[in-house]
Amino acid sequence: MTIETVHVPLGDRAYNVRIGAGLVTEAGAQIAPLLRRPKVCVVSEENVAALHLGALRDGLARQGIEVEVLILPVGEGTKSWPYLTQTVEWLLEQKVERSDVIVAFGGGVIGDLVGFAAAVLRRGVRFVQIPTSLLAQVDSSVGGKTGINSAQGKNLIGAFHQPALVLADVDILGTLQPRDFLAGYGEVVKYGLLGDATFFDWLEENGPALAAGDTALRQQAVKHSVQMKADIVVRDETEQGDRALLNLGHTFCHALEAATGYSDRLLHGEGVAIGCALAFETSARLGLCSQEDPSRVRAHLSQMGMKVDLRDIDGTLPSSAALLGLMGQDKKVVDGQIRFIMARGIGQAFVTSDVALDVVQSVLDDAAR
Ligand code: GLY
Repeated sequence: MTIETVHVPLGDRAYNVRIGAGLVTEAGAQIAPLLRRPKVCVVSEENVAALHLGALRDGLARQGIEVEVLILPVGEGTKSWPYLTQTVEWLLEQKVERSDVIVAFGGGVIGDLVGFAAAVLRRGVRFVQIPTSLLAQVDSSVGGKTGINSAQGKNLIGAFHQPALVLADVDILGTLQPRDFLAGYGEVVKYGLLGDATFFDWLEENGPALAAGDTALRQQAVKHSVQMKADIVVRDETEQGDRALLNLGHTFCHALEAATGYSDRLLHGEGVAIGCALAFETSARLGLCSQEDPSRVRAHLSQMGMKVDLRDIDGTLPSSAALLGLMGQDKKVVDGQIRFIMARGIGQAFVTSDVALDVVQSVLDDAAR
């Protein structure tokens, strides 16, 4: 299988996303052209390091690149001030210079944290994303959103800081737990639903084989998702408009994540998938799309063995009124109005604040039954 490239043309912040099998072992050759001196600092987390750090070290060593490594704990709790401080201080101790390159080797948590550390270190140092989860490969490693969580909510502290290179190794997806893979697949489905009906058709046909482990199909899905994200980011890098489309399903998802305490009861990608189903159901009830569309969305998620409804989440959830209250705390609220991503059909999402909240509440009530 060949390595494919999606270029993200952002002027002096332009970069390539390389997608293919074996990129971790190839990392040295990929990164070497960016380096002024043969040394990189890698920040990773315990699980990824145990499985894949050896291959990355070998790949970098083959190009004569010296490596220093910081390994952080696994989990969302790492996206916080204490670990940002630890990472930045460690990078300074390693004497990272302005012209050096930092490597983020992990899923979304590591990518967001290390990207933010790189953004603030010496007022901005380049960094390379080597995303190891499907979610990070198709979403968080591309587009330059970096940051940490606050006690007040997720991702409330951060910066736009584009990576200098992204290496999405599709072989590495083979070591993910099925639940984590499917959670990332929620973000893949999102791309079809928000802007590409043909891609959604393709996923209906190929999703099961892709989840079962077909690497060529995985590569196609990652490449298509990254290309769609790149196109949107290039149109609207700092989310003044169109980039909000990438938040399809996310207003519902953020409320559900808050309601489940950001715990293992609901992974982010699972919340996105449920949120997409709820967004399509709401769109149908508002007469924006036909009832067939939410039925198709739900059928595909069920076919993939994914969570579809609120009742699929373990334990009790707050009332629909309380969930609506949590949606009102989303950081996408503008002038006190919740911004929703609704759809006129599969692949035809749009941003609107004009959604009757009693309709949303009835959709939430029905999804919990
Ligand atoms: N994950 C949404 C965005 O990058 O805009």
